[in-house]
Amino acid sequence: MATVLTLAGDGIGPEIMTQAIDVLKAVDAKFALNLTLESGLLGGAAIDESGEPLPADTLQKAQAADAVLLGAVGGPKWDTIERSIRPERGLLKIRSELGLFANLRVAKLYPQLANASSIKPEIINGLDLLIVRELTGGIYFGEPRGIRTLENGDQQGYNTMVYSTSEIQRIGKVAFELAQVRAEALGRPAKVCSVDKANVLEVTELWKQTMTDMQQESYTDVALTHMYADNACMQLIKNPKQFDVMVTGNMFGDILSDEAAMLTGSIGMLPSASLDANGKGMYEPCHGSAPDIAGQDLANPLATILSVAMMLRYTFKQEAAAVAIEDAVSAVLDDGLRTADILSADSDTAGLKKVGCREMGEAVLAKLK
Ligand code: IPM
Ligand code: MG
Repeated sequence: MATVLTLAGDGIGPEIMTQAIDVLKAVDAKFALNLTLESGLLGGAAIDESGEPLPADTLQKAQAADAVLLGAVGGPKWDTIERSIRPERGLLKIRSELGLFANLRVAKLYPQLANASSIKPEIINGLDLLIVRELTGGIYFGEPRGIRTLENGDQQGYNTMVYSTSEIQRIGKVAFELAQVRAEALGRPAKVCSVDKANVLEVTELWKQTMTDMQQESYTDVALTHMYADNACMQLIKNPKQFDVMVTGNMFGDILSDEAAMLTGSIGMLPSASLDANGKGMYEPCHGSAPDIAGQDLANPLATILSVAMMLRYTFKQEAAAVAIEDAVSAVLDDGLRTADILSADSDTAGLKKVGCREMGEAVLAKLK
């Protein structure tokens, strides 16, 4: 028996989570997975209750669970409170406390959504790329950090970007190995593009050298290329299909993964997995809490539902259950169901039906029965 902790969080978090939990329960029953579900508070919801974005009780439950499913955190209500206890700090802390250093973000184009992307169909047709983002180091966690007052009275904000060889090696290993697995599954050569800014930053000079050494020592079957982060942004728009696995640090990965998400039409479609060294993981949609549409039944639950699929694949090794969810999502898209985010961008809306969060979730559920 395994335990899944659900943390709905803030904004649209609770409504997308409701749909994802129903899907998780359905596959649990269908594939006899014997999962136990628990819930906890994180982010603004936790601040309102206990004054802290990551209460000890939540951390304890997360440590005890086999996997965590997260909605989203943050919102304007908590934007002005002291920085150290803002909702986002709860998210960063749980990633760090659980040692979830490997963040996997897949940008895969559902052919049904090719018209919903702002990019021409021929550029993105068949797109399937994986961003491996280092998640517990780099400038997000480096010390010293803060805002200080200089002698002349001027204020100065500062952060520190740091990576040690061992941190680079452990994320590099994940990227190279996933490239091998994907090459096998997709029947194409294994390749990794490591993204850095080694022309300016020493920290990424070490990153680049470490990736090169690893490839030469252990992964000669994987083609490794390097790209500066600014060029990578440009290439993602110009010719995204040149990439298979991209590996990069925390901040560049944050930026590139939002960009990659939009190639697929909507960030509302993108799931993610954050893994520790033993396969334990936290799974969450890449989009945020979208406070502007919260509580209105407008949110797209598919990224969270697809995050459940990733959980089944990576933590529970239940490939058939994961594929069943992905097929169900594909089937509702085939039926023409669209939440507002994937409808409004579509250049050809004939045959499409606008649905809310609940109706979309229920449609996926119906396909699983
Ligand atoms: C993400 C988000 C977070 C991040 C925020 C909410 C702290 O943008 O998961 O990409 O920057 O990592
Ligand atoms: Mg982000």
